[in-house]
Amino acid sequence: MAANPDKKILITGGAGFIGSHVVRLFVNKYPQYQIVNLDALTYAGNLENLSDIEDKPNYRFEKGDITDGEFVHSFFEKEQFDGVLHLAAESHVDRSIKNPMAFIVTNVMGTVNLLNAAKEAWKDQPEGKRFHHISTDEVYGSLDDGGYFLESTSYDPKSPYSASKASSDHFVRAYHNTYKLPVVLTNCSNNYGPNQFPEKLIPLFINNIRHNKPLPVYGKGENVRDWIYVIDHARALDTVFHQGEDGATYNVGGFNEWKNIDLIRVMCRVMDRKLDRAEGSSEELITYVKDRAGHDLRYAIDSTKVMEELGWKPSLQFEEGIEKTIDWYLENTAWLDRVTSGSYQEYYKEHYQ
Ligand code: NAD
Ligand code: TYD
Repeated sequence: MAANPDKKILITGGAGFIGSHVVRLFVNKYPQYQIVNLDALTYAGNLENLSDIEDKPNYRFEKGDITDGEFVHSFFEKEQFDGVLHLAAESHVDRSIKNPMAFIVTNVMGTVNLLNAAKEAWKDQPEGKRFHHISTDEVYGSLDDGGYFLESTSYDPKSPYSASKASSDHFVRAYHNTYKLPVVLTNCSNNYGPNQFPEKLIPLFINNIRHNKPLPVYGKGENVRDWIYVIDHARALDTVFHQGEDGATYNVGGFNEWKNIDLIRVMCRVMDRKLDRAEGSSEELITYVKDRAGHDLRYAIDSTKVMEELGWKPSLQFEEGIEKTIDWYLENTAWLDRVTSGSYQEYYKEHYQ
């Protein structure tokens, strides 16, 4: 999709972790666009993430739920969007194990509501339009020690979360094939960075180290994840949204695999230094707990296609990214304290005790 002036772009889930970085990037980089952020503000959505850009003239927030088909339909009719970056989702594997239906409703039905609305709104003039569906590498399943996920790897989702995302990906491709809806898809590895809700590994462990609370490592900590700094993911989405081939899928990752326990030890060492604690003291908080049900062993993604065809590459080495991330949480303890008050306490108690 060409970066022409006067485009109106819808970003769903823009108050969440990745969405807020995408909104900021688009609002600052494309002052000629109008950016509309549609978010239901679930427990994971937080407008505070966007306080630095909320008054920009090319930005607007709309509170709304993508599972409400009638609302989505009339919203598209009224707004006449030229493009969509769809990030709104239920995103946490542990919550999907507890309550799969919420993931089917938001991730599958919510996505199909958006596809229907875009199909209807763009039926007479699909040229120059684009629906970008943001997905995960978890749709490919779990790897043993060798190999990488390629764009051609068969889907084999293993958790209710990844099954719901895989299903939404299939619908996006089906709408492209059946109705010629102009789409593009990205499947990305684990993101880390500022503003991530502290139910996910990295911000949860930073917050627990800060409070000298146990660090609950699932199983033996031998599972492997491929980590990418969230702003590098946002840059990849910008690249694919504007330059990706119609109907194509691009894998995005950092070529940065870490065994959980090794990553946790790095975080402990950095936190000891930053908090002026004795070396090794945070590691003493490591507590091995019952493994996650159906815990995927390893994710590793090959992002050669987006690098070679579209020229994107990650900008940050992990060592630098994790320092910046820890600094952000330590400088934004008020944010951490606010998002971990209230219902977070109940979630934590129920899940970990
Ligand atoms: P997040 O949970 O931090 O944010 C999700 C956002 O969606 C929140 O602001 C929430 O309020 C909003 N939302 C949820 N249900 C909604 C609904 N019914 N209507 C409107 N808004 C709703 O998630 P995230 O980590 O930022 O992930 C964003 C997207 O990227 C998701 O689609 C996820 O599957 C995908 N993804 C995430 C990762 C990762 O590591 N976090 C990796 C690859 C892909
Ligand atoms: P998470 O951040 O939930 O992302 P995902 O499950 O989507 O990869 O978890 C990352 C890894 O950390 C995963 O292997 C599960 C593990 N983990 C723990 O060991 N303890 C925890 O408390 C959490 C939340 C995750």
